[in-house]
Amino acid sequence: MSHKKVAILISGGGSNMVSLVESMTGDHPARPCLVLSNNADAGGLQKAAAAGIATAVVDHRPFKGDRAAFEEDLVKPILEAGADIVCLAGFMRVLTAGFVSQFQGRMLNIHPSLLPKYKGLHTHARAIEAGDAEHGCTVHEVTPALDDGPILGQARVPILPDDTPDELAARVLVQEHRLYPAVLRRYAAGDRSRLDLT
Ligand code: GAR
Repeated sequence: MSHKKVAILISGGGSNMVSLVESMTGDHPARPCLVLSNNADAGGLQKAAAAGIATAVVDHRPFKGDRAAFEEDLVKPILEAGADIVCLAGFMRVLTAGFVSQFQGRMLNIHPSLLPKYKGLHTHARAIEAGDAEHGCTVHEVTPALDDGPILGQARVPILPDDTPDELAARVLVQEHRLYPAVLRRYAAGDRSRLDLT
């Protein structure tokens, strides 16, 4: 069997990246080919290297807000690695339509809310502030609009009385680590139907 190659883009600790990497063994239809970060200090880079995965850094800061120029460099290691699928996993840069269109139908993102609720940042605080009874995470296909695109899976958690944003985020993160590998496995096998974890 020839495996699909997966590039994972991170900006921080990379716990979702680790859960994806650890899932891609045995009869999984994909394997990691690259972990790429916009941040040389991203803790996930060392974890990826320790797991024997090629890593690369393209710092966005020298581009001073010129997203297209940043992305011209960002795309290079992805193409060189021959990635079939791109997984955004805590990658905190907004991508332009030009970049996204190159990977249309083969780029996934995980977002810490029950989309379409709470696109963007501070999702946990916003869900608590709104008095919601539940919160969660979504894996979706990436389209040019931020945190939009076909939903491939969701997992839900209750919001408890007196939850802080950090406590809620930690509870959601546990579900992210279940959801993203489960969706990627199906997606890499060609199954784009929606997965709802309980
Ligand atoms: C995760 O909670 C992920 O859903 C979120 O950042 C965190 C990264 O953690 N992503 C976004 O907010 C994207 N807008 P990780 O580096 O430990 O995977």
